[in-house]
Amino acid sequence: MAKKRTKQRPIRVGVVGVGRGRSFMQAAAATGMELVAICDIWEERLIAEGKALNVSTFVDYDEFLGGDMDAVVLANYFHQHAPFAIKALNAGKHVMSETAACHTLGEGVALARAVEKSGKTYMFAENYPYMVFNQEMKRLYQQGRVGDFKYGEGEYVHPDPPEVKLARSYGRDHWRNWIPATYYCTHSIAPVMYITDTRPVKVNGFVIPFDFADPTQTLHMNRSDTAAVIICRMDNDAVMKSLHGALRGHGNYVRIHGNKGVMENCRHGDKQRLRVWYEPWEKRKSDPVETVYSPNFPVHHGLATRTGHGGGDFFTSYHFAEAIRTGEPPYLDVYRGIDMSITGIQAWRSALNDSAPMEIPDFRRESVRKKHAKDDWSPDPERKKKGQPPSSILGAIEPDAAAKKLASKVWADQGYLGD
Ligand SMILES: NC(=O)c1ccc[n+]([C@@H]2O[C@H](COP(=O)([O-])OP(=O)(O)OC[C@H]3O[C@@H](n4cnc5c(N)ncnc54)[C@H](O)[C@@H]3O)[C@@H](O)[C@H]2O)c1
Repeated sequence: MAKKRTKQRPIRVGVVGVGRGRSFMQAAAATGMELVAICDIWEERLIAEGKALNVSTFVDYDEFLGGDMDAVVLANYFHQHAPFAIKALNAGKHVMSETAACHTLGEGVALARAVEKSGKTYMFAENYPYMVFNQEMKRLYQQGRVGDFKYGEGEYVHPDPPEVKLARSYGRDHWRNWIPATYYCTHSIAPVMYITDTRPVKVNGFVIPFDFADPTQTLHMNRSDTAAVIICRMDNDAVMKSLHGALRGHGNYVRIHGNKGVMENCRHGDKQRLRVWYEPWEKRKSDPVETVYSPNFPVHHGLATRTGHGGGDFFTSYHFAEAIRTGEPPYLDVYRGIDMSITGIQAWRSALNDSAPMEIPDFRRESVRKKHAKDDWSPDPERKKKGQPPSSILGAIEPDAAAKKLASKVWADQGYLGD
């Protein structure tokens, strides 16, 4: 059935956060949205960006929300999205939120309730599922080409020199300096969930501890661990492994084993290519045992190939705009956003408990939500109180004098003069 379109005029959108937020500002026009306002507390950068884009600027989020716009994109701090989303929904705006959707289980409960109450569109801006090889794997999976999902892997490994990391994490208590290694998990988990249409129900978390022999860590202000491995039991009994963090070997890889074949993006050469493998003794006559090819995006191939994160940045804005126009929830709705985000939180609980399994509660159900509404477990330095977890499996880590000296220099060079 054709989708019903309720609006044809451009969707007026405002963006919060002039770091990552810039990619949404740039993608707006290509997806039928009109950027009308931007908001950031870092006034100098805000004004410069506002001038370049010729849009209104706001340092105050409440004033920004009072503006004449239909939708808000949240690219503010990683651990503050849920309260910002709830405020925007209550102000009658559609919301697209960067990763993570929520920083505690209690925030997840409040967010799910707020989306339902508002009747507005909420989209979780996970862009990795929309990379070309992931969209192609979803297409093949839906056609039954590898059978039923049995085991999957998602990998997001992203090391950088200390100067690059410091430039991204200005200020001692910037979120990138204290979120536990399991928390930034959605880039590796989301593609597997998206391709196979499954959700995790249980998680075991493991971390590779802070490495005192690695200068990319010892010259950084980060107080958490090197990387995390998250093992999930999915709702169809399949198993997924997610790996993310700052190990050497930069790359994003996804692999899906079905009971009829396996598919994965290539680890060598052009990594956007897909490899599909069938066992010679059971494959269809028309299928080769092994196929390696460069897939196209299902729609808007030209536009998508010109945007960041392998086209993912185009498709999040595209699906957000489509959801607003049609009134149909996007695939990456609030519940999937919460599932993906709280897996990292529950994995941290697990890692701190010798990797024992933890449930991933399903916040589609109010009876489940009630049990978690007051859960504010977090290592956020601003939420310190008895019972809150550490940022590292090793306990409290204090950056040394060399790290602090380098941090002061890198931060001052980019105009940040705080602590
Ligand atoms: N999907 C992706 O590929 C991808 C890539 C990078 C970042 N991200 C996500 O995007 C978000 C932002 O990332 P970033 O690297 O730009 O982080 P950042 O911490 O550098 O930037 C956040 C911005 O929000 C602003 N901000 C903070 N509080 C505010 C407030 N109360 N009102 C207005 N502005 C406020 C900050 O001044 C800053 O400019 C994070 O959640 C991150 O996880 C996603």
